[in-house]
Amino acid sequence: MKKLLSAFLTVLTFLTPFQTKAEETNMSGKKMLVAYFSASGVTAGVANRLSEAVGADLFEIKPAQVYTDADLDWTDKQSRSTVEMNDRNSRPAIASKVENIAQYDVVFVGFPIWWYREPSIIDTFMEAYDFSGKTVVPFATSGVSPIGESGKNMQALAPKAKVLEGKRFPAGVSAEDLKKWAAEQL
Ligand SMILES: Cc1cc2nc3c(=O)[nH]c(=O)nc-3n(C[C@H](O)[C@H](O)[C@H](O)COP(=O)(O)O)c2cc1C
Repeated sequence: MKKLLSAFLTVLTFLTPFQTKAEETNMSGKKMLVAYFSASGVTAGVANRLSEAVGADLFEIKPAQVYTDADLDWTDKQSRSTVEMNDRNSRPAIASKVENIAQYDVVFVGFPIWWYREPSIIDTFMEAYDFSGKTVVPFATSGVSPIGESGKNMQALAPKAKVLEGKRFPAGVSAEDLKKWAAEQL
């Protein structure tokens, strides 16, 4: 009996770390994707941390035409970003597609705030897929602005999705804080 108990305990010792890992990376058993657009790397950092923290796949929303520094000049009325953001129908092309989006229950969508809302390329992303039955959780980085109406705008473009309000994070937000926030959303 003692031998049996000790064998059982040995097996348990080896199994426990793996079980814990599985629990950590499997929020309510949901399959998750973190998709993000980042023009200068800040949102990319947060997206990487979030995907690691919650055990989600990662996809970069890469523009077909990369944004140059001149494109990003918000003080220039003629710059590409200003022109795009002044036109609600602007849909900058994305270089590649998420493979098999049908497999995901939850899609976190990350972006920098441009002119108080989601960049036009996020509008392209929201219209590019069938989000039926999926929860979309926006997240953003910015100088100071909150996420504002971004979630509402995204919901209007993907009516079959359940798009949450989302949240703006500082560049240095910790993996722990991201994980806690993600768990509260689902
Ligand atoms: C075209 C443009 C518009 C921006 N508009 C805002 C804004 O309305 N409010 C704000 O706080 N920050 C604004 N920013 C700053 C970015 O949101 C911020 O630097 C962000 O963290 C950059 O993320 P990224 O490195 O992932 O592109 C803007 C930046 C650009 C390039």
